[in-house]
Formats: sequence, structure tokens, C-alpha cells
Amino acid sequence: MDRNSTVLVALRHDAQRTALVAMLDQRHSYKVLLAKSAAEARTIIDEAHVDLMLIDDGQGFEGCSVLAQLRLSNPEIVRVLVLPETSEPGRKAVSEAAVYQFLRRPLDAEQASLVVKRGLEARELARRHRLLSREFKISDDASILALGQGYQLRPESQRFEKLVYVSERMSAVCDLARTSAKTQLPILIQGETGTGKELLARAVHYNSTRRASPLLVQNCGGLPDELLQSELFGHKRGAFTGAVSDRLGLFRAADGGTVFLDEISEVSPSFQVSLLRFLQDGELKPLGSDRTITADVRIIAASNRPLKSLVAAGEFRRDLYYRLKGFELEVPSLRSRPEDIAALAEFFAAKHSEAMARKVLGISASALERLTAYDFPGNVRELENEIRRMVVLTNDGEYLTTRHLPQSILDAVVRPPTLRSGPADISGKTLKDKVESLEKNLVLETLGRLRWNQSRAADELGLSRVGLANKIKRYGLDREP
Ligand SMILES: Nc1ncnc2c1ncn2[C@@H]1O[C@H](COP(=O)(O)OP(=O)(O)OP(=O)(O)O)[C@@H](O)[C@H]1O
Ligand SMILES: [Mg+2]
Repeated sequence: MDRNSTVLVALRHDAQRTALVAMLDQRHSYKVLLAKSAAEARTIIDEAHVDLMLIDDGQGFEGCSVLAQLRLSNPEIVRVLVLPETSEPGRKAVSEAAVYQFLRRPLDAEQASLVVKRGLEARELARRHRLLSREFKISDDASILALGQGYQLRPESQRFEKLVYVSERMSAVCDLARTSAKTQLPILIQGETGTGKELLARAVHYNSTRRASPLLVQNCGGLPDELLQSELFGHKRGAFTGAVSDRLGLFRAADGGTVFLDEISEVSPSFQVSLLRFLQDGELKPLGSDRTITADVRIIAASNRPLKSLVAAGEFRRDLYYRLKGFELEVPSLRSRPEDIAALAEFFAAKHSEAMARKVLGISASALERLTAYDFPGNVRELENEIRRMVVLTNDGEYLTTRHLPQSILDAVVRPPTLRSGPADISGKTLKDKVESLEKNLVLETLGRLRWNQSRAADELGLSRVGLANKIKRYGLDREP
């Protein structure tokens, strides 16, 4: 595992919580997220990546039913339940929630952290087992899973909180996001609609020192200026018609945390001035008040219109633009990183068939090929909607296939499989070995694409037919059944 595991602790007693957190955080270097209620625990599960959840049951903490739901929605999360001193463990915990382990109050931090450690180890073993069985299964189901002749095992997808990706481009963006999370600077996230800007903002928050404080989201598009100012900065009673009582404002409510300003390109010039003042001095003025107040929040702003060109057109303040982009994260469109399509499609297929308690097996190679050729103007959101729809249409025990794809996607032109030229495709220690491995891949790819028409392949490769036959023999290439 390339990152520390994340443990969500939802305990009522402050003292027990503090002792356990200290142990998990300092001794084991887990990333710890805290929830003070069952509802908060559910929100965190939706927003952040969690490996194990430890939750109280009883006295207003519905830990058992939270874990029972979790088993359906996020079965990969290890579930640990903390029961009152005396009560029976209850059949429910054991059967419906299928907890990994239960503990008793008062919690012994030492014992609890050991259970957490073992639970995470068990999960890691299960994950490796799954990966291995999947690799073995590929040879059985080659006809379903193989992407034509040039089939290669896809690299395992990477995660940054809730973001799934395999592409170099996303990997670079997430690396920069991880770095920026550790600072207090404002972050500007840009990218087309549906590329995952909000998901990235949440990932940054949960990887920052502010993660124990709230992340509050404000969509700045389509709101009258006065309303937006009062939402964010608050107002005094009577500041405007309808302001019947004082309002705290998002910035104060998120004190210590993060405020995510979505569609920042849409705000008025006067709002831009207020925001700039806040970014410069940390000060803000509630509407109708003459006192300035301060708030300690990190700003993350997002836009799907490129701010730079709005600045050039005089529609957005240059000084504010420079303030906002302490870090600038550009989320690439899905069509510019087609490698991510298959990884995301499989992730969504598993996610939605689990959420609907269905047993869809996966996606056929030809459906993946079609999806990869499509240009997804709505980006990841569109892909997710397509896959969700396909899961609904597919029977248990079947694969999602081209039959379930809409015409618009079927109409997309399938690009001939290209040889990925990353170092992963080339094996061997010495230059000679590497060159040979590349040659073998090129010959195999060309033959596969031309359906083993050897004279056309020889033509394309600039070889004689005999020359090609020699290479086929030398590398032991075989036309797969
Ligand atoms: N890399 C990813 N892995 C998993 N899910 C993703 C990824 N990128 C996007 N999604 C999903 O796609 C949907 C759209 O993502 P999100 O809302 O973050 O996009 P956005 O860039 O903010 O879009 P908009 O500009 O329209 O507001 C969400 O359901 C999100 O969970
Ligand atoms: Mg968004």
C-alpha cells in the first residue's frame, strides 16, 4: 500500500476518543477522521476514502445500523462496533452488519488499536487475494476479457480519496493536489464539467490539517449578489428586506476548515472585491454591520470556464485571480485521458451493482472498447450515468455488453489499438533485450490489428514475408484461438 490507511472513529466519549486517536495517529501513523454523530459518520463516508470504521452503538449512536448499511454501500470498509458494557452483542451486529470485531465500553485504547491493526491487515490480504484471483481468471475468461490480440493486463487503478485513475495526467494532478493539501494556500481547480473538480476539492480537504473541521460548499452561480454575500459573510438583522435575524455566514461556520466556492467565474465585481479583501487580510464584513470580523478558512475555488481568458476579457479581476491560484489544478477532460475510461467504467460497474444489491459480473471487452472510443462531452459524470443505466439493464450473472450501450456511443469510431509506448510494455535488462521486446510487441500488435494477414503486416512493417515469418517463429508468436 502506498499510503497510510484511513480510520474513521465515531465515539461519543471525549476521553476515550482522544486516547484512541492518539494511539492510532501517533503510534501507528494512521490517518484518523473523527465523527461526533452517526449522521456525521455517514457524511464522511460519502466524501472521503475510509478503510476502517469504528463506531459506538447505543445511547443515540446507531452504530449497528450504520454498519449494516455500510456493508451494502461500501462493503470494502472494515467494520468495528463498540457496544455498551453489559448488553448482548446481538444477532444483528453479527449477521446484518457482519462486523469484523466488536469491543466493549469503556474502550481500552491499546486493545482497540490492535483490533484496528489486525482488521486492516485482514483487509489487505483479502484485497491481494482478489487481485490474484482476478489475474488467474483472465486466462479462463480470455474470450470475454481479452482486448483483441494485443491484450495487456491493465495497471491497477490508483486512488486519491474518492478519485479513481490510472492515467499519468491524473496522477500528476493528484500528486500536486496532495502537495497543495499540506499548505494553507488557496487552490484554484479548473476543468470541464463533470471532470471531478468537487471530488478533488473534497480530497484536498480530507488530506489537510483542517480535516477535523468542516468543509462547506457554496455554489456561486445564479445567485443574486446580496444573497451570495450574506450566505458567505453573514448579515445583521435588518440588513435588507427579509433579513429577519442575524446570520453567521459560511466563512464563520467553517472556521478552522475549508470553504469550496464552486463556479467562481460567475460572481459579481463587488463580490470579487469582498473576496479579495478576505484573501488578503482574512477579514470580512457581514452585510449591514460596520465591524469587520476574521475567519480562518482555506479557500478552494473551482471553475469550468478558464479564468485566465475571463481576466484577459476584463470580466474577472486579475488581482483576485492571482490570489486564488496559490495552487492551480487543471483536471483534464476524460477524452484526453482515455486510459482512465476502462478503470472508471469497471469501478462504477462494481459500485452501482453493489449499491443496487446486484451481481453484475463486469464489462465485456468490446463494450470497454466502444466506451474508450467515445469522447464523453459530459466527462466522468456522463460515464457514470451510462454505467449506472447499463447496470439496471443487465441481469445478474451477466456482463455489461455493447447491447446495453446507447447509439451515440456505438457510433463513435473505434481507434485501432495503439501500442502503449510506456516503459511498462518493454521488458528486459539490456538494451538488446528491450529492443527485442519492443519489436515483438510491435509485430504482435500489427498482426492482431490486421487479423493475422501476414502479407499486409509484412508490408506495413517493411519486411519480406519470409522475414516476418522468421520473426513470428523467433518470438514464438501465436494466433490466439
Ligand atoms: N476520478 C474519478 N473517480 C471516481 N468518480 C469520479 C471521478 N471523477 C468524477 N467522478 C464522479 O463524477 C461525478 C462528477 O464529479 P464532480 O461533481 O466532482 O465534477 P465537477 O468537475 O465538479 O463537475 P461540474 O463542473 O459540472 O460541477 C461525481 O459523481 C463524481 O463522483
Ligand atoms: Mg462541481
